[in-house]
Amino acid sequence: MLHGRDELFAALPSPDGGTWVDLGCGTARNAEAWGDRLGDFNEVVLVDLSESLLGIAQKRIEDRGWSNVRLLHADATKVDLPPGSADVVTFAYSLTMIPNWFAAIDHARTLLKPGGTIGIVDFYVAKKHPGEGRRKHSWFRRTFWPIWFANDNVFPNPDLLPYLAERFETVEIAEESGKIMWIPLLKMPYFRFVGRKRSL
Ligand SMILES: C[S@@+](CC[C@H](N)C(=O)[O-])C[C@H]1O[C@@H](n2cnc3c(N)ncnc32)[C@H](O)[C@@H]1O
Repeated sequence: MLHGRDELFAALPSPDGGTWVDLGCGTARNAEAWGDRLGDFNEVVLVDLSESLLGIAQKRIEDRGWSNVRLLHADATKVDLPPGSADVVTFAYSLTMIPNWFAAIDHARTLLKPGGTIGIVDFYVAKKHPGEGRRKHSWFRRTFWPIWFANDNVFPNPDLLPYLAERFETVEIAEESGKIMWIPLLKMPYFRFVGRKRSL
């Protein structure tokens, strides 16, 4: 059900000798999405609040022999890393699980170098009156999906995408819908956002 991950990572840069920080990394599945490009980074920091998921991530790191990857047990809204140290920061299906999501976005922005890239893929619902060029969702979609997701402690917020577009220079926004296993008629809305931290 977690659509769009491969497309997101294909669209992100992997600067030679750079630093990538993944916020809400879970089992480190995102690290696989880079393929060989993971080796371009000098430092990869995978952050999550869940010790059990970090345990699975640790096993993946050891199995793959990723010597540039380390784990950090921390809240994505206050990760203790030097400000301005990251070339790339990502969230894959984690922002909608973070109640203080705007603080997480602001913190990600603080971690990025000027000109650094943020990449996000997550569930979402559109605003009732989305801006020009943005996709409109029916009343049913805007009402149904937040109730559905709440069962799994996932809270898509219609202000999320507009907030990202305000905080970063937009490189790419894609608003899509993905199939759900076993339920052929329903498609759940998700977005990809790639943005750049303005250099001032
Ligand atoms: C749906 S999982 C996605 C995991 C992974 N990014 C992926 O795509 O497979 C959401 C993850 O966000 C983590 N998470 C939720 N709130 C968090 C927070 N405040 N700080 C760090 N991680 C958090 C959860 O522990 C979980 O691993």
